[in-house]
Amino acid sequence: MYTIRRAQQTDGKGIWYVHTQAIRETCKSHYAPEEIEAWAGRLQPSSYQMVIQSRELFVAEDNGTIVGFGQLYLSSGEVEAIYVLPRVVRQGIGTQLLCTLEERARVQGVEVLRLDASLNAVPFYKAAGFEPQREAKHQLEPGVEIRCIVMTKSVA
Ligand SMILES: CC(C)(COP(=O)(O)OP(=O)(O)OC[C@H]1O[C@@H](n2cnc3c(N)ncnc32)[C@H](O)[C@@H]1OP(=O)(O)O)[C@@H](O)C(=O)NCCC(=O)NCCS
Repeated sequence: MYTIRRAQQTDGKGIWYVHTQAIRETCKSHYAPEEIEAWAGRLQPSSYQMVIQSRELFVAEDNGTIVGFGQLYLSSGEVEAIYVLPRVVRQGIGTQLLCTLEERARVQGVEVLRLDASLNAVPFYKAAGFEPQREAKHQLEPGVEIRCIVMTKSVA
């Protein structure tokens, strides 16, 4: 059984592991190997220190192991990430993380959530009530972009 809690500074390594495993295993169905490596390879356990301070970051934990995380930027109303370990997909953990972010957004007065969905994640976000708006490029770093779908959901 897993629990959802706020991320702490000591969670960087666990979040990094989930992030890179999910990109390398789950996202590879829709992206080229060089895109996957550009995406996962630039991440480091220390990458999350600033994010934990500046974003709403929640983790799903199973017996002390981080198995998923969700990241919301309140100022822009953007869901910046939902990732779960490949071994726990389709168990409702992504939905639970997304509901937690939606609730945080709602109580803070956000009316519309937006996100750049990776192509593999579009059915997940559709199932959660997000509507596709347009195709776009998501910039990972200057010069490195991947295709995504801009999606929105009213949470007011
Ligand atoms: C997207 C992701 C977070 C979904 O997490 P999850 O815990 O597996 O999702 P849930 O179990 O809560 O799924 C809820 C519903 O979404 C839909 N769904 C989820 N994954 C799906 C898939 N691969 N194909 C079709 N529908 C899917 C289903 O309707 C599912 O309900 P069901 O299992 O009862 O049929 C997970 O697949 C992941 O980590 N992907 C890689 C990272 C990524 O691309 N994240 C998004 C970045 S924008």
